[in-house]
Amino acid sequence: MSLVSYDLHDGGVLLLTVNRADKLNALNAEVFDALAEALARAASDDAVRAVVVTGAGPKAFVAGADIAEFPSLSSAQGADLSRRGQQVFDRIERLGKPVVAAVNGFALGGGCELALACHVRVASETARFGLPEVGLGLIPGYGGTQRLPRVVGRGRALEMILSAEMVTAQRAYETGLVNRIAAPEALLDVATALARTMAAKSPTALRLAIQAVLDSDAPLESGLGREANLFGEAMGSADAKEGTTAFLEKRAPAFTGQ
Ligand code: COA
Repeated sequence: MSLVSYDLHDGGVLLLTVNRADKLNALNAEVFDALAEALARAASDDAVRAVVVTGAGPKAFVAGADIAEFPSLSSAQGADLSRRGQQVFDRIERLGKPVVAAVNGFALGGGCELALACHVRVASETARFGLPEVGLGLIPGYGGTQRLPRVVGRGRALEMILSAEMVTAQRAYETGLVNRIAAPEALLDVATALARTMAAKSPTALRLAIQAVLDSDAPLESGLGREANLFGEAMGSADAKEGTTAFLEKRAPAFTGQ
């Protein structure tokens, strides 16, 4: 079985599953390669309108980077590993299509960072989030020190990173780390339904909206300038003509992504 399975469902929703359940889906070099390949395929496949990312098995989303690869690494190799992980997770954030994490269990270290690179997180009631790296003598290296403070604020991010403690799905929901919580047996349905809702919208508008929100880290003035440019780009698209005309004609729009 592939280390990252690629299953296209109705409504243009692609389910990507990390398949390494015997090691709690820990991210080794092969899993990263498989994930990068699946993301490249998803980016160029027009039938894919939104993506759900999950982990195989009942226990873990992803329990982190594969610690077995670490003891022999030099400082330079560590930096390379971090850059590789960051690059793959950046591809998720910049896929140009909505990506929903369906967090079905432990999301630790690189698993928490994988969830953070997704645009939206839905968690099972039994999920646990954490950045345990400082307990290993390391720091989060796949974007965690940058994305977690942007999602939950600096104080809560530092609490999680410095204590290395796990938080429950409920706590993650309260801090904004998680968008929605579902019963374990309903998780995939809830995440897929949310992705399908997104997938029904204009692909062009989704891509431009994601870009605009990613630019919200910029100073307000330049972010607003960027928003106006992207809004203009959306306005010039065939999808905008279709979406607005369909509204006025009281019918459902048929978006083409043009
Ligand atoms: N890297 C490599 N292997 C991992 C792993 C990781 N991040 N997380 C789990 N595994 C492996 C375990 O070594 C074990 O392998 P084995 O059966 O060959 O011994 C298998 O997955 C099952 O894990 P196990 O520890 O036995 O499950 P558990 O239920 O007792 O504990 C966790 C679950 C998640 C609490 C525990 O596995 C853990 O702490 N993992 C590491 C989390 C971490 O620090 N991640 C950040 C890495 S930077």
